[in-house]
Amino acid sequence: MKKYILGIESSCDDTSAAVLENNKVLANIIAGQDVHKRYGGVVPELASRAHQQNIIPVVDAALKTAGIEKSQLSAVAFTRGPGLLGSLLVGTSFAKAFTLGLNIPLIEVDHLKAHILSHFIQNTEGNKKLPSLPFLCLTVSGGHTQIVLVKSPHEMEIIGKTIDDAAGEAFDKAAKIMGLPYPGGPIIDKLAKEGDANKFIFPKPRIKELDFSFSGLKTSFLYFVRDRLKENPDFIDQNKNDLAASIQKTIVEILMEKLAKAVKITGVYDVAIAGGVSANSLVRSRLAEEGKKRGWNVFIPDFQFTTDNAAMIAIVGYYKYLANDFAGQDVVPYARSLSKA
Ligand code: KG4
Ligand code: ZN
Repeated sequence: MKKYILGIESSCDDTSAAVLENNKVLANIIAGQDVHKRYGGVVPELASRAHQQNIIPVVDAALKTAGIEKSQLSAVAFTRGPGLLGSLLVGTSFAKAFTLGLNIPLIEVDHLKAHILSHFIQNTEGNKKLPSLPFLCLTVSGGHTQIVLVKSPHEMEIIGKTIDDAAGEAFDKAAKIMGLPYPGGPIIDKLAKEGDANKFIFPKPRIKELDFSFSGLKTSFLYFVRDRLKENPDFIDQNKNDLAASIQKTIVEILMEKLAKAVKITGVYDVAIAGGVSANSLVRSRLAEEGKKRGWNVFIPDFQFTTDNAAMIAIVGYYKYLANDFAGQDVVPYARSLSKA
């Protein structure tokens, strides 16, 4: 029996709507928000206003692309949190009203779980190899850095996390120090392709077990650049590519070392990456390399499912639909992660 799930994502600065037919994507529409670029980060109030403007056209485009009528929808899944409350409220209110109008179930989805379960989205041909359970997932985004042991679509355990900044934040802050616009991660990735990753050495933190820390790295990058600028005001311009390549290599090595440790501790060899930073070309190539070297089965998401998107919300919606796990109209968004993944 075909089920059509509409997914809604509005946790940060992307308004997205997707339609899934069971576990396959029929449409995944994402409207970004350029309005934040000149502020060097997401401005919450501007983000919620842009979501208000975008949500109806985005949902409309998703239904049209999918080629289905709203009356064919089986349920609507929306991001409940974590994220910016004002932004989440737009998606939450829309999903509530839409399900009420259509008299279909409402499903609440955790954004971080959704990044992870995006690996269960099947391709159109139906021949994509999906991770087997349990698997490990390194979730690296602008707000989170976690290693999660995924026992089932409904049961996950966070076995490592950042004690300060997220990996995406480390990319974005390094970019800001270099005078690059927000979000800096993709720009660093691009510049690094032309740079020498061994030109500058930055210290890696010593953090216990599977936890991460990136704030010390950011500070040492800041002081390093500031000191060099005193001697040479053109230092950044002249060394942009090498700076980008060197900081990127340091961040990615920190991630890979912890992931290797997680495999050793858990004995789980199915290893996935998810979240915005999993779009990074070095993260992707290094994971593939480590997999080959160490005998891991690696799962690298399609680009369209790395940064925030509603298809990942809809796939969680599909699993919850099968489990009859529905939300009431009294459900409210949450800004911070609930204790479990
Ligand atoms: O998952 P996401 O879209 O939003 C959050 O839930 O945070 O992740 C956004 C983060 C930003 O920090 C952005 O700079 C980073 O992902 N990012 C990248 C790349 N593409 C996005 N970082 C490094 N390299 C990339 N190619
Ligand atoms: Zn995200």
